[in-house]
Amino acid sequence: MRPKITIIGAGFTGSTTAHWLAAQELGDIVLLDVMEGMPQGKSLDLQEALPIISSDVSVRGTNDYLDTAGSDIIVITAGAARKPGMSREDLLNTNAAIVRSAVDSSVPHSPNAVLVVLTNPLDTMAYLAYRRSGFPKARVVGQAGILDSARMRAFVAMELGVSVENVHTYVMGGHGDEMVPLTRHSNVAGVPLLEMLAPDRLQAIVERTRKGGGEIVNLLKTGSAYFAPAAAVAQMVSAILKDKHLIVPCSAMLEGEYGLRDMFFGVPTQLGRSGVERVVEVPLDEVEKQALAASAALVRESLATLERLSA
Ligand code: APR
Repeated sequence: MRPKITIIGAGFTGSTTAHWLAAQELGDIVLLDVMEGMPQGKSLDLQEALPIISSDVSVRGTNDYLDTAGSDIIVITAGAARKPGMSREDLLNTNAAIVRSAVDSSVPHSPNAVLVVLTNPLDTMAYLAYRRSGFPKARVVGQAGILDSARMRAFVAMELGVSVENVHTYVMGGHGDEMVPLTRHSNVAGVPLLEMLAPDRLQAIVERTRKGGGEIVNLLKTGSAYFAPAAAVAQMVSAILKDKHLIVPCSAMLEGEYGLRDMFFGVPTQLGRSGVERVVEVPLDEVEKQALAASAALVRESLATLERLSA
């Protein structure tokens, strides 16, 4: 029997995630949305594409959580997308209500699933899903670091004219403009990035990475990025279902790692069949530690806002 993957929210990110997952034949997919007909229509369209790309998974659209029962993985993308001028934090109130309802409606039907959260503000929504679900911390993980690192990889590869496969970058911290691209730990085919790029070019790439989400929001005007976020989720789902023990940056529950606790935060995690198998601790220098602390302070602020709004 193939694994079962539910995607809650069949908008741009959700349907693109379904596309990547189906193309990789990772499992049978249930695409759920509150809008009637929309998830059914998109699923049927995707199902009809699969003969062309030789994929045998089933893709089912629904508005009924009963259809999600027994899922191995639940991806939560439901929520409002960011508009120009709107920070991820502006979304907090609206999206908290949506994530609560997605967790409350799905978890009782799939008590053993791994929850993968994509809804922004990411670290806060992942924390909310963790608390609300009652799942162990290993089975709740947020998507952010793979996307942020991929953006930086793309920019470095474009700048140097090398394959993206040669570029290894590390972006940690909260999924916001204070994220922490770790240039000292990044390399191109093993050569430290600091030796491959002039300081001003490297700084420009770091800044562009930090503002990568906003750059796309400003271009699209009516929504936020979805191809790259969805591809990042597909890599996480693949690592979990194939039990790969893959180390990738994700938002995970911290209990003392990096001196932080009781919060979700972007750190290198090892993903396998049980979810987050461990958080990997990278040795950091003082400047990196300070940058991480500034990023953590923003996530804490967002968590405090969530608490105030829910009181
Ligand atoms: N339950 C299920 N689906 C819902 C709910 C709900 N309670 N509320 C809203 N949705 C659905 C909407 O109907 C819509 O189809 O979520 C979908 C969101 O899709 P888009 O508006 O296309 O937004 P998208 O670009 O996919 O972004 C979704 O992911 O990357 C993050 O910041 C982004 O938080 C945003 C989320």
